[in-house]
Amino acid sequence: MPRVTFLHPEGKSGEVPENLTLLEASQVLGFPLHHDCGGNASCTTCRVEVQVGSENLSEIDFDEQDLLDREALSEPWHRLGCQSRIHGDVIVRVPEQKWEPPTASGQQAAEQLAGQGDSKGCTVSLD
Ligand code: FES
Repeated sequence: MPRVTFLHPEGKSGEVPENLTLLEASQVLGFPLHHDCGGNASCTTCRVEVQVGSENLSEIDFDEQDLLDREALSEPWHRLGCQSRIHGDVIVRVPEQKWEPPTASGQQAAEQLAGQGDSKGCTVSLD
């Protein structure tokens, strides 16, 4: 399984099932990104900056690039967590205000997500 690392003062790193979005992975790891539009590529609150492994994320589609361009975030390291699917190891930096403490309902969603995919779950480690 791919290893995803969220760089942040409260950041986490762990293995998650392939093909989750970065937003879904953040929820699985207990480090939920903001997602004010519900993951519909219309708010940028889930934005991250890719440090390593951009080639291991899905390609940017038209809607994601259009929103990033409108927000003056056209540099290639900006990605929307809700649109970026994980296909290999990746390290992303999370702007400090983009993280929110997990809630009970968010934890349930994370547990459901952890049970999907090719694996029965995920491995979480704090590095
Ligand atoms: Fe709104 Fe990703 S959650 S753009």
